[in-house]
Amino acid sequence: MQSDWLLNPDITFLNHGSFGACPRPVFETYQRWQLELERQPVEFMGRRYHDLMNAARQKLANYINAAADDLIFVPNATVGINLVARSLKLQAGDVIVMTDHEYGAIHKTWEFIANKTGAELCIKTVPLPLTDPQQVVDALFAELPERTAVIAISHLTSPTAVILPIADICQRARQQGILTVIDGAHAPGQLPLDLAKIGADFYTGNCHKWLCAPKGSGFLHARSEHHAMLDPLVISWGWGWPDNTFVNANQWQGTRDVAAYLSVPAAIEYQQAHDWPVVRARCHKMAIETMGRINQLTGLPAIATDDFFAQMSLAALPPIDKEAFRARLYDDYHIEVPITQLGQTHEGPHYVRVSFQAYNTQADADHLLAALADLL
Ligand SMILES: Cc1ncc(COP(=O)(O)O)c(C=O)c1O
Repeated sequence: MQSDWLLNPDITFLNHGSFGACPRPVFETYQRWQLELERQPVEFMGRRYHDLMNAARQKLANYINAAADDLIFVPNATVGINLVARSLKLQAGDVIVMTDHEYGAIHKTWEFIANKTGAELCIKTVPLPLTDPQQVVDALFAELPERTAVIAISHLTSPTAVILPIADICQRARQQGILTVIDGAHAPGQLPLDLAKIGADFYTGNCHKWLCAPKGSGFLHARSEHHAMLDPLVISWGWGWPDNTFVNANQWQGTRDVAAYLSVPAAIEYQQAHDWPVVRARCHKMAIETMGRINQLTGLPAIATDDFFAQMSLAALPPIDKEAFRARLYDDYHIEVPITQLGQTHEGPHYVRVSFQAYNTQADADHLLAALADLL
C-alpha cells in the first residue's frame, strides 16, 4: 500500500493527524469528479447534483450508522461546530462546558459565541495521567454549573490524542437536559464509528483526516428533533425548497467544488478493500510501542494507559523551546511530527504527538527515536 500515497518520500511523516493524507486511487477519483464537473457544468450542478450528493451522503450514513436525513456534508469539523454553535439560542448566564484538551480553533468558536450571547465558558481540567475513562466523566460532571446548557468536547483530543468516553458523557448529559456537541474531527477512519450508539445531540467529523478522503470533506450529524433550530451558515436555493429539511437547507450553498464530498465513498471503499481493522491494529501497536520508547528515553511517566489511544500516541518531553525543537526535527532529521501543549495559554509541559497511518513503518518510529535521543 505504501506506493499508493502521494507524500514526499524524503520526509518521515508522523503527522497524519493534522490534515490527513489521501491515497492515490481516492485522489484520482476526486480529480475525475472535478473533470466531470468541468466537462458539463450545467448538467453536473444543475441536474445531477442532488442525486450525486444524496448517494455520497447515504454511503457515509451507512458507514457511521446514522440516518442520511440527519447528515449533511460540511467542508470540515470547524464549519460543523460553527453551524451548531451559531444556531443555539444561548442566553446570558448559560454555561458551555468544555475540557482543557480541546482544539484551539474550536475553543475560539465557543469563546466567540460566549462573547456574543453573554454565555460563560467553563473549562474542566481532565486530569493526567488517565487510567480509567470514568476519570473523565467524573471530572466533567463534578460541580457542574447549574446553568450548564451545552457540553462541547472532542471524541479524540488534538493536543493529547486521547479517546474520551463520549457515549457515557452524552447519556448522562441527556438525563440532565444538557445538549452535547461532539467534535469528532479525528474519529472517522481511526475508530469504528456508531453514531446511533453514541447518542450525541450534534456530532461533527472529518473525512479528510483518518478516513483519508480529499481535503475539505467533513460532516455534521444532528438528531432529528434539533433540525428545526439549526440555521444554515449560508442561505441559498435549498432553504425552504421544496420543504425546509435540514438536508435541503444545507446541501446547496451556491456554486462550489463538491468533488471532495463525492469522493468520500471511494475513501470508505479503499479502507474496506485494504482490511482496515488490521491496518488500524498494526498502527495502534506501533503508536503504543513508540510512546513507551519515548517515555523510557525521557524517564517521564505515561500520560494515559494504552487503551486511551488509537493510531496516535503522546509522550511528555522535558522542558524545550517548542518551535526550535520542532524546526530541528524537520530541518535536521526531516521528521514531520507535532509538538503539542495543553490548554489555550501555551503554558505547561510539551508533548510529542506521533501519528501512525497505513504508510508508516517501524523505520519511521526508529528514526524519530534516534532523533529524539540526539536532540534531548
Ligand atoms: C480535535 C480537533 N477538532 C477540530 C479540528 C479542526 O479540523 P478542520 O481544520 O478540518 O476543521 C482539528 C484539527 O486538527 C482537531 O484536531
